[in-house]
Amino acid sequence: MEFKFDYDENKEKLEKLEDVIKANRDKRGALMTVLHQAQHLFGYLPLEVQEIISSKMFIPLSEIYGVVTFYSQFSLTPKGKYEIGVCEGTACYVKGSQAIKEKVMESLNIAVGETTPDLNFSMQATRCIGACGLAPVMTIGGDVYGKLKANDIEEILEKYRSK
Ligand code: FES
Repeated sequence: MEFKFDYDENKEKLEKLEDVIKANRDKRGALMTVLHQAQHLFGYLPLEVQEIISSKMFIPLSEIYGVVTFYSQFSLTPKGKYEIGVCEGTACYVKGSQAIKEKVMESLNIAVGETTPDLNFSMQATRCIGACGLAPVMTIGGDVYGKLKANDIEEILEKYRSK
């Protein structure tokens, strides 16, 4: 799913980004600072924003893209209102987290790292959250659900669909 970046809608944020670039351009480690601020401003780093950073900082787009895709704190797609993480730790894996993950992906029609077109849900890879006794575990927007079965998923998602 491609999310279209709207320049008009983001006018104010783009002006702020210009200020951030001007204030940091000549400093050491400027690119990381600017990318962090841009991620904070827009919630993600679409190609359009990377292009602006590239042209204003005189850094090749390929270099910027390389940094953005290397560090997991940067995202190329917007995050959903509710982030879903199905634990991929060992205890959860043994207790069948794969089936839970597949059920969520099937219900929402997205993969890990993607966001639903209505921006309500996104999925992220999740390591052990320390609730192994409740395996398999899933989190949605900070709420934790444990001892899950694939059959539970639809009912749980429904609660967040209507919120
Ligand atoms: S392995 Fe899933 S919570 Fe620990």
